[in-house]
Amino acid sequence: METVVIFLLFFGTVWGLGIKDVVIIILSQPNEHHLKLAENLKNDIEQQAEALQQGKPIVHLSHRDFPHVGHWTVLPLVEKLHDLHGENSSWVFFVEDRTRVNLGVLSEVLNEYDPSKVQCIDCAVWLGHALHDNEATIIHHFAFYEDPQKFKFPNLGSGIAISTNLLQRLAERLRHPATPHSDFEIDSSHELALFIWDKGKGEVLTNDNAFCIQQDNNNCASYPLTFQPCGALVEKDSIYFAVKTCEKYHKERVPVVKKTWAQYASNVEFFSDEADVSIPTINLGIPNTEQGHCAKTIAILHHIHDKLKHHPRVQWVVVADDDTILGVSRIQQLLTCYNATKLVALGERYGYNVHSARGYNYITGGGGMVFSRALLKQLTRPGVCECPSISAPDDMFLGLCIASLGVSVTHSPLFHQARPIDYPPQYLLTKDAVSFHKHWMIDPIGVYDKWFAEEDMKGADVHVEL
Ligand SMILES: *[C@@H]1O[C@H](CO)[C@@H](O)[C@H](O)[C@H]1NC(C)=O
Ligand SMILES: *[C@@H]1O[C@H](CO)[C@@H](O)[C@H](O)[C@H]1NC(C)=O
Repeated sequence: METVVIFLLFFGTVWGLGIKDVVIIILSQPNEHHLKLAENLKNDIEQQAEALQQGKPIVHLSHRDFPHVGHWTVLPLVEKLHDLHGENSSWVFFVEDRTRVNLGVLSEVLNEYDPSKVQCIDCAVWLGHALHDNEATIIHHFAFYEDPQKFKFPNLGSGIAISTNLLQRLAERLRHPATPHSDFEIDSSHELALFIWDKGKGEVLTNDNAFCIQQDNNNCASYPLTFQPCGALVEKDSIYFAVKTCEKYHKERVPVVKKTWAQYASNVEFFSDEADVSIPTINLGIPNTEQGHCAKTIAILHHIHDKLKHHPRVQWVVVADDDTILGVSRIQQLLTCYNATKLVALGERYGYNVHSARGYNYITGGGGMVFSRALLKQLTRPGVCECPSISAPDDMFLGLCIASLGVSVTHSPLFHQARPIDYPPQYLLTKDAVSFHKHWMIDPIGVYDKWFAEEDMKGADVHVEL
């Protein structure tokens, strides 16, 4: 009996991959809800390590340990992680705060690829749940690689493991002055994959199904959780929806909004360059511009701020486009996790020039931008948010204003800047989207019916019963 135990211990320590060989990085955010998620995940990982008796694992919260406007895009962390852990660890493992990790399975999986044992080109490998675009999509700059063996990108919520050998190679490339940087960060895992792939000179992601797309018994090393509300539904009348439109779309897009989600909203107003009583729209006297809409959006925020003086119940403002497709009930659920008395800007985060000192993050407008009442008050203070030009891009400019208040925009992967068909189906499997964007070449009512109608109708029933 004793020999068996000793034998196992011997194998466990000498041949097995110790947890110390893996450094875990939670891509965390300062918002209190997300901070709590990240801290809970860190505690959970540490408790598992204790139960496995493998020593205390190193778990970083990225926003805290590596503060950088682009920390969520992974690449700005590479050099620091390489300096800190390149010598003593074999792997770094990136997860979202909604990811769950099974440390025992993770060790087993990584052991199969242990860079010191398997044969691989310089043993620079990276692993994850591989996704592949079936069609060219705007969120990936229409980059389209027909051969899925040639280019794949990971599902971030499923976790991404990068060997420290590869980390070293990436650090060297990043240090090289000729390495190009992109201006925009949109989908960080796709952009990371393009950088590592390096036009075919670098590494292709290795797919391993242990990095699950959703929970699956005990076979997963990691998987993203489906969103769970944090409390009782946020009341409908505490949310105010502003829809930006223009005369051109009064007949085409506005009827779709009214036929779908807007009928379930307690407070919704349409803002246009043309007053139209049949909708009705509000004309704030700002001419329409082909692009940008800065002056229009800021005028809308001022209008709402003035109006809310008479509506003390409203706690949240959602600014949507006339081709945003969203679920009112989903938004009511999501907002249970956020505090409207705090400075909150919530939506899908994009980054602009995050590699430079002038870089900042912003919420991309198409998927919907959510502001807490407290933040709206700050944004409408004189001098805080005055457009440089009427047609400056509104969402980017708001990002700058929010940054100037010392507030970080909060990212939720549940908002979507594009249509469902623009994402690999597996990416959407958690089924907890709150929004999509654009009517182009799709049936927007069909999208609403598939993703949001059922819950919005349920929400309406509750309202009627009360
Ligand atoms: C690596 O581990 C050795 C031995 O435990 C230690 O002396 C050294 O400081 C570690 N290096 C780093 C960069 O942490
Ligand atoms: C929201 O924040 C305020 C302080 O700003 C606090 O008093 C309140 O308890 C918080 N609400 C929730 C639900 O956490």
